[in-house]
Amino acid sequence: MTRQIHLGVFVLGTGNHFAGWRMPGATDDFQDLAVSQTIARIAERGKFDLLFFGDTPGVTPGMHPSYMVRPDPLLILSALAATTTHIGLGATASTTYSEPFTVARSFASLDHLSRGRAAWNAVTTSIANSSRNFGREHPPHDKRYEIAEEFVAVVRGLWDCWDDDAIVIDRATGHYVDWSKVHPLDHRGTYFSVKGPLNVGRPPQGQPIILQAGGSDRGQDLAARTADVVFSVVQDLDEAKAAYASFKARVAEHGRNPGDVCLMPGIMPIVGRTDADARDILNRLQSWVDDSSGMGLLSARLGCDLSGYALDQPVPDLSLPDSSHSFARTLLAKARRESMTLRDLYNVTVAARGHLVVCGSAETIADTLERWFVERAADGFNVMPAWFPGAFDAFVDEVVPLLQQRGLYRHDYTGRTLRDHLGLPRPAVQRRQG
Ligand SMILES: Cc1cc2nc3c(=O)[nH]c(=O)nc-3n(C[C@H](O)[C@H](O)[C@H](O)COP(=O)(O)O)c2cc1C
Repeated sequence: MTRQIHLGVFVLGTGNHFAGWRMPGATDDFQDLAVSQTIARIAERGKFDLLFFGDTPGVTPGMHPSYMVRPDPLLILSALAATTTHIGLGATASTTYSEPFTVARSFASLDHLSRGRAAWNAVTTSIANSSRNFGREHPPHDKRYEIAEEFVAVVRGLWDCWDDDAIVIDRATGHYVDWSKVHPLDHRGTYFSVKGPLNVGRPPQGQPIILQAGGSDRGQDLAARTADVVFSVVQDLDEAKAAYASFKARVAEHGRNPGDVCLMPGIMPIVGRTDADARDILNRLQSWVDDSSGMGLLSARLGCDLSGYALDQPVPDLSLPDSSHSFARTLLAKARRESMTLRDLYNVTVAARGHLVVCGSAETIADTLERWFVERAADGFNVMPAWFPGAFDAFVDEVVPLLQQRGLYRHDYTGRTLRDHLGLPRPAVQRRQG
């Protein structure tokens, strides 16, 4: 089997561009289930591996509209489990503001409801004001990762509490569960104390897929040890190739097969009839963003209040913030490389929230994705349509067929679970001691 591109779609009901919802015909209500169902239908038509919903347990005025009005992703995914058949269903749950037992139970349940399509994005939550909703302090960056490491280990241990054949449902003997095949976790660690077992049988995938999106040293280390899919932030091909090679080496250092971890940078495809037409579409979207929204978004991404700076001055030398290293590092490197002003950089940031915008005809976009994939800057892409459904339809109907013709992407699903799509085996139970 030759290496194939994997595709995920980043779902935001108002589109991924800050102003995507203002495009005529665009969906504009993330709270309407029909919007997510429409996106899921298009994704399955495009034979996508994964549908992904981010999450943050708090709200800040001025954020992206789908970050301000954001229904619980696990509930949306439970509903989508009933109306989809193949696509992987991924959502974020915070390791700083959740309990591992609850997270393990929710994703095991989603895996059962969807017959093996659940994926958990384990994030440490970078936005400090989330802490106000939980009556506690926001831990500093590295401590958040220390907590996350224990959190992920507990969740994985809970998924393995039940042997695969523990639920017997024997009408003749009246035995429902064989308790000799159900094992407590007995975890007592620095941050969590969890007896177990879980009250859900072993998930159909054995272990639901783990997604990770932290780009700091600690984040990459957690991903290299535990993740199946890693979302990254890229702007430059050479930089992305170096990051890909260094991440895969880290996976190998942890005794894992680098091919078992799928690295998916975020990209926003703007598909036009021609390259010039695509640029016009992007310019139209960008014209709907004002300076203060742009600078607000850039401040959030760089983790620093930029309101005192002049828009047309060069981007100042800033250090990496406590909130998120990945976005700040990638954006500051781009600004330095291209001698950008703050206005230039906010324009990049409002488009795809710091991710790469690939703007052009379907051929131009397919060429770019092919090059990034073949030159090993990516194993696939986390596609971020600027608005739904139009921009996503264009990608699926015009770019996907080109990738298929070039032998880079599946024509149809060959399995039923997300592990099948990713080419990952179902893991055997591992007994972990707390
Ligand atoms: C594609 C993508 C999706 C992300 N989704 C979320 C999310 O849903 N919630 C969240 O709090 N952080 C999210 N993040 C942020 C990171 O997971 C991470 O928490 C943050 O970047 C800080 O980690 P770092 O310093 O290791 O980069 C996402 C990042 C990327 C690239």
